[in-house]
Amino acid sequence: MSKQEKAPIFDTLINHAKQRMTSFHTPGHKNGRGIDKKLLDFTGKNMYYFDVTVFPEVDSLHDPTGCIKQAQELMAKAYRVQNSFFLVNGSSVGNQAMLLSACNPGDSVILSRNVHKSVLGGIVLAGLWPIWLQPKVDQNLDIILDAEPDQIAEAIKKFPEAKAVFVTSPTYNGVTSDLLEIANICHRNNKILLVDEAHGPHLRFHRDFPISAVEADADMVVQSVHKILSAMSQGSVLHVNSNRISINRVKKIVSMLQTTSPSYLTLASIDLARRQAVMHGEKLLGQVMDVAEEGRKRINRMKNLFCFTRDDIRSREYDLDVTKLTINVTKTGLTGQEIENILNEKYNIQIDCADVFNLIAIMGIGSTRSDVNKLVSALNDIDNKHHGAQKNLDFDLPSLTTEMVMIPREVLLERDSKRVPLRKSVGHISAQTLTPYPPGIPVLIPGERITQEACDYIIELSEKDIRISGQETDTLRTIKVVK
Ligand SMILES: Cc1ncc(COP(=O)(O)O)c(C=O)c1O
Repeated sequence: MSKQEKAPIFDTLINHAKQRMTSFHTPGHKNGRGIDKKLLDFTGKNMYYFDVTVFPEVDSLHDPTGCIKQAQELMAKAYRVQNSFFLVNGSSVGNQAMLLSACNPGDSVILSRNVHKSVLGGIVLAGLWPIWLQPKVDQNLDIILDAEPDQIAEAIKKFPEAKAVFVTSPTYNGVTSDLLEIANICHRNNKILLVDEAHGPHLRFHRDFPISAVEADADMVVQSVHKILSAMSQGSVLHVNSNRISINRVKKIVSMLQTTSPSYLTLASIDLARRQAVMHGEKLLGQVMDVAEEGRKRINRMKNLFCFTRDDIRSREYDLDVTKLTINVTKTGLTGQEIENILNEKYNIQIDCADVFNLIAIMGIGSTRSDVNKLVSALNDIDNKHHGAQKNLDFDLPSLTTEMVMIPREVLLERDSKRVPLRKSVGHISAQTLTPYPPGIPVLIPGERITQEACDYIIELSEKDIRISGQETDTLRTIKVVK
């Protein structure tokens, strides 16, 4: 048996379950006996034998010496990296661990404004200065593209003191950056490359996918094993593949950020997801790619729907994970959210997310041809029923030459805030993030001086009834600023 066929955490838990031990440890449900009957009737009782706490037989996530250590080593081998750490609070905690591991308080990091919200959390926890890059909005595809290599190179030139560069690849739409070039730029300039690859744990397991961050020589990479592979929710992994990072520091930080009562069900599922991906990933993911591409072709034969292709994205010097279907609905006369509701209510289909212009349907290792057939046939119905004037992403995105004048940690943890009328906010320092959807790029981030341009833009958006995430009040008449 090859080593990768093993699943040390799962095997240990099965052995433990067979012993039917009398439990005087947490959790209180005692091997499922105390679980509410409604839940027990639905799930059956076996899984609760796996819901144990730390004791020598099942090892400790915080100081692994047994099955968790072995499972993490197998994970590192599977991805050909130096070290892998299992995470039980998703890639959210992974992003924070990367920033805290790579940077010291007061360091600066180059990153796009469209990063996941956990990244601002990491910047606050680590006490970092963010150097924000403005991502591009592709007006034809109505999507955001993460920073380009040239933008990163320019930022490094302008801010040579930056310690690290943080990239999100793939994006929510499955678009990957030119990571080989970005890694090259970073390492030539002695910068650490951190990649949020939450949406890309599978890329490594099929040669037809875009290159993954671990293969492109990123220093640290976080992946949500639960998003596309078969781990349970919250199951993620942090890979470290660099001599620029102190592994002892990573160990301390990952331990500092995680619960002392990790879900062993989640840990076992990460372990098995790695085994499955190594043993069967090529076949399973190849099938998912094939059915996704068939679905894409059929959608592109419809009159009012459009699903961009890998060639479309490659012509823009990015690449695409084809298992993500971004379906542009602008010619139906309906918004993405309206179609999301129709799919949900009439066709029993739940897609991942929608905005005014697009639906995003995410496929995973469990997706099947019949799922795609169901989606395509529902979209076909909708396509035949709805046609309207094409909407475009015709916002004049301001260049937003915002100025970071206060470190986000100080704004959010050390200073009081107050609300001022939006129209009188110019010159104040923002104490909140305001992100209009679309396009999903923050206009203001804590620590930025509010410019006339940003203020006018927010007023214009609020008058157009655009949803602004973070506004905290029903109407956007006031804005939270540093007192
Ligand atoms: C790009 C990106 N990074 C990080 C995360 C956080 O991942 P998790 O849900 O595993 O905490 C998400 C979640 O959707 C994401 O889209």
